[in-house]
Amino acid sequence: MAGDRDLAGRTALVTGGAAGIGAACARALADAGASVIIADRDGDGARRVADELGGRSWQVDLLDTAALESLQLDCDILINNAGIQTVAPIEQFEPAAFRRILTLMLEAPFLLVRAALPHMYESGWGRVINISSVHGLRASAYKSAYVAAKHGLEGLSKVTALEGGPHGVTSNCINPGYVRTALVQGQIADQAKTHGIAEDAVVEQVMLAHASIKKLIDPADIGSLARWLAGDSASMVTGASYTVDGGWSAS
Ligand SMILES: NC(=O)c1ccc[n+]([C@@H]2O[C@H](COP(=O)([O-])OP(=O)(O)OC[C@H]3O[C@@H](n4cnc5c(N)ncnc54)[C@H](O)[C@@H]3O)[C@@H](O)[C@H]2O)c1
Repeated sequence: MAGDRDLAGRTALVTGGAAGIGAACARALADAGASVIIADRDGDGARRVADELGGRSWQVDLLDTAALESLQLDCDILINNAGIQTVAPIEQFEPAAFRRILTLMLEAPFLLVRAALPHMYESGWGRVINISSVHGLRASAYKSAYVAAKHGLEGLSKVTALEGGPHGVTSNCINPGYVRTALVQGQIADQAKTHGIAEDAVVEQVMLAHASIKKLIDPADIGSLARWLAGDSASMVTGASYTVDGGWSAS
């Protein structure tokens, strides 16, 4: 098919690329010819994925935002993906945990976009892809920090789209429902304990309660959308948010 390797010559930086959705996005971009840089605090995991894809790894703790302030990134595609979760009612939510989520999932993406735009502007081409969530568009109880960070990321993505458009830079969000990754496996186990029900029941009755298609999403499904957004055929797509949620947000 024409365009199969249309990312050849492009460099893509994927945060949180050592596992889950990030690794799947890196795989999809490498399949399309991009050179990938796997940025993750898990140095061994990042190296493993980078070696598999013939790319490079960058061991970095994105919570150390001071170190990101003077950064310059020479990448053509930036995927802001690294994320964590904490679940608690607001009145019991640890302020430090709230701050950690906002730092990693909103401030770090801002600093990385800020570091990447000069190179993208210079070359007149760039793609920013933000891995948001259905929780960038909808709220759930007990996820105040995560929902706030993802709603903030949606705003950052739209502003990047407005500023980047004249320079050939697009910015979009991908909004997954529940994807089968380590982050979700942890939540399944926690909720099974909290509700005193089996893990299968957590998936069907709690996580997929609003979805029309009752199964967890495959990380590769997110990778294939990221690959399309990175390609030239999506050059007019910007400031948008694409749900991949089995119909959850339709309800
Ligand atoms: N899994 C889902 O159901 C789901 C749904 C919607 C959105 N998302 C979003 O997708 C993104 C990836 O989630 P996932 O499920 O693949 O998670 P995951 O836990 O499988 O992978 C996250 C990766 O981020 C890295 N990371 C965490 N903290 C970091 C830090 N301080 N610095 C650098 N790297 C760090 C981890 O080492 C890990 O490799 C997150 O932003 C998450 O909010 C996930």
